[in-house]
Amino acid sequence: MIDHKHQDIDAATGTATTGHEWDGIKELNTPLPKWWLYVLYATMIWSVGYWILYPAIPLPSGATRGILGWSMRSAVTQDLAELRADRAPMVNELNKSTLQQIASDPKLAEFARAYGHSAFGVNCAPCHGANGQGSKGYPNLTADRWLWGGTLDQISATITHGARYGDPDGHQGDMPAWGSQGLSKQQIDDVANYVYSLSNKTTDDVSAGKKVFADNCTPCHGADAKGNPDMGAPNLTTKIWLYGGDKDDLIQTITYGRGGHMPAWGAKLDPATIKALTVYVHSLGGGQ
Ligand code: HEC
Ligand code: HEC
Repeated sequence: MIDHKHQDIDAATGTATTGHEWDGIKELNTPLPKWWLYVLYATMIWSVGYWILYPAIPLPSGATRGILGWSMRSAVTQDLAELRADRAPMVNELNKSTLQQIASDPKLAEFARAYGHSAFGVNCAPCHGANGQGSKGYPNLTADRWLWGGTLDQISATITHGARYGDPDGHQGDMPAWGSQGLSKQQIDDVANYVYSLSNKTTDDVSAGKKVFADNCTPCHGADAKGNPDMGAPNLTTKIWLYGGDKDDLIQTITYGRGGHMPAWGAKLDPATIKALTVYVHSLGGGQ
């Protein structure tokens, strides 16, 4: 204790000392401000309350639970339930309405696009890209160039049943491998040149390839090469390619054939989500 009667006042600062002295250096008596101490005590009391109410002390089998029973997981579950309840009226509307009704009702269409966009990010973006722009082997869904058609009903059918994915209602039928189905190397080269000329300026004579095309390719791709969604055969006159449009890519496609696999979502996603995805994909720029 400090002897207050004989307090030793430090001359330079005018502050009392604690009486401790080492080699002529004296310790000034400057206690912590009272308000600061009270805040410290208050936080100590608060933390005890917190330990009792909330999960706090780590144990080998998880932390103490706290008497409120709060957990991060139950908080998230509750948030999700609230979100679902908020959305329920609109999701009901999606369930009740046809694709055409959804697309022509501005408010419902806007909800469907937002709902579809988030479902797309989770389920579709890994293959089709974040905005549906696609990449080699995965079709661009933002352009008016479709394998299986770009109407609401066609898009919905593709999403529900997929392509070459084992669903009996899904799209079937491949691009044949002409290298083992009757065309010579020369004919494949010629027809690749012709297909190339459909979307590129070229001075080459492509009449030989045009004949190969007319004899072999028109049943699926059409006499004008503009494709046929019933066969999944794409338009070959645009500059948009699923498997690349260089001559080497074309020769590869024609020689070895192609057949991409699009999963069937009908069993995995509920009908409202599929409708929302359909309206979303239709709105990306290529919808017919
Ligand atoms: C595992 C990769 C993969 C996933 C995931 C995927 N797709 Fe596809 N999708 C494909 C492939 C590959 C094709 C092209 C099929 C073909 O060649 O006929 C395709 C085709 C499509 C088509 C038809 C395009 C056209 O030109 O006709 C639509 C529409 C489509 N996908 C929408 C979706 C939606 C919506 C989802 C998410 C629910 C999705 N896809 C998820 C791979 C995928
Ligand atoms: C039995 C129907 C059928 C016939 C006949 C056919 N194709 Fe295809 N072709 C397809 C299908 C289906 C696809 C799309 C494959 C896919 O989605 O993976 C395709 C895709 C292609 C592609 C790729 C387009 C791209 O975007 O990358 C080219 C190029 C092509 N065909 C050229 C030809 C040529 C040339 C012939 C004639 C020698 C021919 N096809 C005959 C069904 C056919």
